[in-house]
Amino acid sequence: MIQKIALGKTEAQVSELCLGAMYFGSKLNARDSALVLDTYVDHGGSFLDTANIYARWIEGCDGLESERFLGDWFERTGKRADIFVATKVGFDNVAVGFGLRRHQIEASCEASLKLMKTDYIDLMYAHTDDRETPLEETLEAFARLHRAGKVRYLGASNYVPWRLEQARMLCENNRWPGYVCMQQRLTYLRPVPVPLDRLHTEVSDDVMDYAVDSGLTILAYSPLMGGYYNHQDERPVPKLYDGDFNRPRLAALNEVAREIEGITPNQLVLTWMRQQAAPVIPLISGSSRQQLVENIQCLNYRLSPAQLERLNQA
Ligand SMILES: NC(=O)c1ccc[n+]([C@@H]2O[C@H](COP(=O)([O-])OP(=O)(O)OC[C@H]3O[C@@H](n4cnc5c(N)ncnc54)[C@H](OP(=O)(O)O)[C@@H]3O)[C@@H](O)[C@H]2O)c1
Repeated sequence: MIQKIALGKTEAQVSELCLGAMYFGSKLNARDSALVLDTYVDHGGSFLDTANIYARWIEGCDGLESERFLGDWFERTGKRADIFVATKVGFDNVAVGFGLRRHQIEASCEASLKLMKTDYIDLMYAHTDDRETPLEETLEAFARLHRAGKVRYLGASNYVPWRLEQARMLCENNRWPGYVCMQQRLTYLRPVPVPLDRLHTEVSDDVMDYAVDSGLTILAYSPLMGGYYNHQDERPVPKLYDGDFNRPRLAALNEVAREIEGITPNQLVLTWMRQQAAPVIPLISGSSRQQLVENIQCLNYRLSPAQLERLNQA
């Protein structure tokens, strides 16, 4: 069963595996989305991750599908109070556009509340950094929502450590509620040194150190590289991770996977990230019940110090 752990340095307890709701109501139809969500809840999970743009890039979608699906699910099941729901603002939403101006944050929050048929959001993220908007404006807007009881906790996604530190200092000086967690891309393979864009960031060694030092929980997105690890012979390595420098890493992963009875490469990646220096909550997902259950069952495994060291050093 999925257990709960602390979210950052707060008193909130959240599931040790968070369910990514990115494709609910779009790539996954309503029936399959409900099947995956119910399966997660049946395994004791209660931490959901959505955004105000999921999944706008799919043909025929406006990006409100995921929040809308969750609102319908909350209404139908009456389980809103049992769930810790996170949503995000900042990327190119159909109504408020890209950015973290005060009016965008306020309008997006109202829209998320309406779509999810709730009067509070447990965790609201800045989805990506907006360097055109003064950080003060963004953080003050979030503080107002917090004061109004509309948002319980705040998180930052795709921020680099120096910007997180600036945000921390501003919040401390102004007595605003600060970011309690960060959501970044993290998988076992290392990304290519030149980032594909600056709007998405990786958990680098620096980010990990910053999380340890600041007490921020890391929410790891896209941990399975779209399911690549279980299909290494059938699929090319995604472009972001394609480089000779990853050969020893992939070899180490497959070698350790062979040593541990029953573990799949996907499960090993999730197990590995849960044993890093900072608290890491993987954002798991699945296109089917079977995929999700496999991912949840990563909880059955623990790496020995020697195995962890081999994977870390590769
Ligand atoms: N903050 C951000 O900027 C950001 C960005 C991206 C995502 N996210 C969050 O992170 C969550 C996860 O992201 P992601 O979908 O990119 O994660 P991912 O772990 O890289 O990929 C998930 C996909 O992998 C495949 N898969 C999952 N489990 C599998 C298994 N056991 N065996 C084989 N294939 C498996 C499925 O794809 P198939 O349908 O192909 O089988 C599934 O849709 C999202 O739902 C969202 O909440 C946040």
